[in-house]
Amino acid sequence: MNAGVEMLKKYYARISKFSSAASLLYWDMQTYMPKMAGPFRAEALAELSGYVFQLATSDELGALLEDANPQDEVEEAIVRVGKREFERFRKIPKELFEEFVKASTLCEQAWQEAKRQDNFKTVEPFLQKVVELSREIAEKLGYEKDPYDALIDQFEPGMTAQKVATLFSELREFTIALLERIEKLEPVHDVLSGVEIEPERQRKFNEWLLDYLGFDRSRGRLDVSEHPFTNPIGLNDVRITTRYVLDDIKNSIFSTIHEFGHALYSLSIPQEFYGLPIGSSASYGFDESQSRFWENIVGRSLEFWKGVHGKFIELFPEFSQYDAHQLWKSVNVIKRSYIRTEADELTYNLHIILRFELEHALINGELKVQDIPSTWNEYFEKYVGLKVSSDRMGCLQDPHWYGGSFGYFPSYTLGNLYSAQIKHSLSKELPFEQLVEEGNFEPIKSWLYDKIYSKGKIYEPEVLIEKLSGEPLNVTYFRDYISEKAKRIFNS
Ligand code: CO
Repeated sequence: MNAGVEMLKKYYARISKFSSAASLLYWDMQTYMPKMAGPFRAEALAELSGYVFQLATSDELGALLEDANPQDEVEEAIVRVGKREFERFRKIPKELFEEFVKASTLCEQAWQEAKRQDNFKTVEPFLQKVVELSREIAEKLGYEKDPYDALIDQFEPGMTAQKVATLFSELREFTIALLERIEKLEPVHDVLSGVEIEPERQRKFNEWLLDYLGFDRSRGRLDVSEHPFTNPIGLNDVRITTRYVLDDIKNSIFSTIHEFGHALYSLSIPQEFYGLPIGSSASYGFDESQSRFWENIVGRSLEFWKGVHGKFIELFPEFSQYDAHQLWKSVNVIKRSYIRTEADELTYNLHIILRFELEHALINGELKVQDIPSTWNEYFEKYVGLKVSSDRMGCLQDPHWYGGSFGYFPSYTLGNLYSAQIKHSLSKELPFEQLVEEGNFEPIKSWLYDKIYSKGKIYEPEVLIEKLSGEPLNVTYFRDYISEKAKRIFNS
């Protein structure tokens, strides 16, 4: 036994217990907490998180990392990733960090009001402050060429603005061209939207779906929240949420499958990694690749709808006149729309590409905060092809920037690209379509376990995707996947 590494592991185990308590407080706040409990809960969370931050930046941890003396690949990864995170935290002065947390909390509150009033002007000074502080943080973190690199690295280790820009410009051109071709064809008739289904019946189907996908009930649960999310609370405890919209049954179904994907990844990371720097997904993009793999590549496939069709019409007899084929087409409607979270698989990426280009320019100092609405609207028309007439439908729709998460948005589209590349590799070894149609997900899960989940955060995403697919991340597989799907939808 390696005494240095054992002491380090003990220290991380201590941190993980405090962060677990903070996670549970947060999950409860988003699900069951009585409304009046909000202010005290926020204080309790801030106190606990502050303490976790203190533990994660202490001289004691620094010394433990220095003296660890790792003996094998896993121990080396613990120390390497641990040092990386420790050094990153330490580069940001405590005062700057606290100022940033305060400014982004205030800005997010101002954003909620600005969105309600549909008025960007009221949030502008707050956002100005958050952008300034984010740029200051980027300077402290350090970078080679581009301050944005320091920020995206927090979500996607090793990724740079240059690499994202190259992938995204290829994807953008292809997407716009495919969209134009699709629009010349007969539009798909969506038979599912607009039909009112009471939440209790929707809930039954979603619970059934989780069993069908093999969600481990002894280690997780499904609840309801306004914005669906996944929260790993502790060892053997991952909570997911969904939301029930009366006249849009698709909303809860795909939120549930999406969050199931996140939860599966989290629950499948080896237990001995728990609480350690390697005990999480490889990156935000990789995490999103799994939610999107299950939601889109599995859940929006024809084979999946053949598999669930019987149960679906048993619980929802109002749709019994439709076969699996018609339901499948209805969950794959492709059309230009304003709101990112409501966009389809194809146009979704355009929403992200626009956000990346704008936030990159903001952090570089090439775009002024006051010019966000006009620039947003100009790019939106160029990329998505729609005129934006209100900020609520435009630059005020998402909380990310106002909450200070610059560098986060690319994760969503990187997730789409990873997921298609992963599916391509998986299909070389497994009869993917047949397994999905049979509802036999175990071989797929065990492939994903071997290649991805069992590795935790040992490898950087660039290395991991290359190891499992034999090549760097690229646009080819997503392009092939979505073109093939469009062909199947419109030719049938
Ligand atoms: Co997600």
